[in-house]
Amino acid sequence: MRSGARIILEERIDGVEASYIAISDGTVAYPMATSQDHKRVYDGDRGPNTGGMGAYSPTGVIDDTLAQDIQKNVIEKTISCMKKEGTTFCGFLYAGIMVKDGKPFVLEFNARMGDPECQPILMRMDSDLVDYIQASIDGTLSSLPKISWKRQSAVCVVLASKGYPESYPKNEEILGLDVQDSNSYVFHAGTKRVDGKVLTNGGRVLGVTATGDTLQDAISNAYVRIEKINWPSKYCRTDIGKKGLGPSVDSDM
Ligand code: GLY
Repeated sequence: MRSGARIILEERIDGVEASYIAISDGTVAYPMATSQDHKRVYDGDRGPNTGGMGAYSPTGVIDDTLAQDIQKNVIEKTISCMKKEGTTFCGFLYAGIMVKDGKPFVLEFNARMGDPECQPILMRMDSDLVDYIQASIDGTLSSLPKISWKRQSAVCVVLASKGYPESYPKNEEILGLDVQDSNSYVFHAGTKRVDGKVLTNGGRVLGVTATGDTLQDAISNAYVRIEKINWPSKYCRTDIGKKGLGPSVDSDM
């Protein structure tokens, strides 16, 4: 058929987007903690889409009831169908979910953890990640207990180079990486080491990730750490995690 001869109209789904990731060995799937990304480049979710400017975990967008619904009706059905069709899936399955009127709609699947969702999720993980990856490879996930999560919040704020997601400078020296801080961790993305200096080497440069007893504490800890890191074209959103503030939702994830 000629390209463009057929078009597909899809229903527009308005709602709130969140990320639901599970690890599978092809037969069973264990949920990772819930999270929410911030895809637009500017504060207030304005500007072009990016790979993600920051994320936090857990998110109240997915409460325990909705998590069970997604686990049963999205993740487990997908894993089971893929096995039946001879394309067994082993690894991290990422579902981008639009939540509308309390119901989940799948926007996309990725065969990986999300970036920057991965950073806050791993900061909250109380179990050993390697055990779960090994069991996923070996097909023995059901022999392990469900993954346990710290009852803390975690926030990752992406430090980018001004101009991202379009053109941006590279090779600027990053200062302030040697600060010690028990509440936060700096994940490198677009960086390189040259002659003992750390230089920018991409649009999304660092993922500054902090934990806290509340989401507000985690946000504050991340931005305190960010103040200490500098390079000429450093840019970040100033509102990461804010949309998660509000009535807390009780969740074991
Ligand atoms: N943060 C969105 C993604 O990893 O696809």
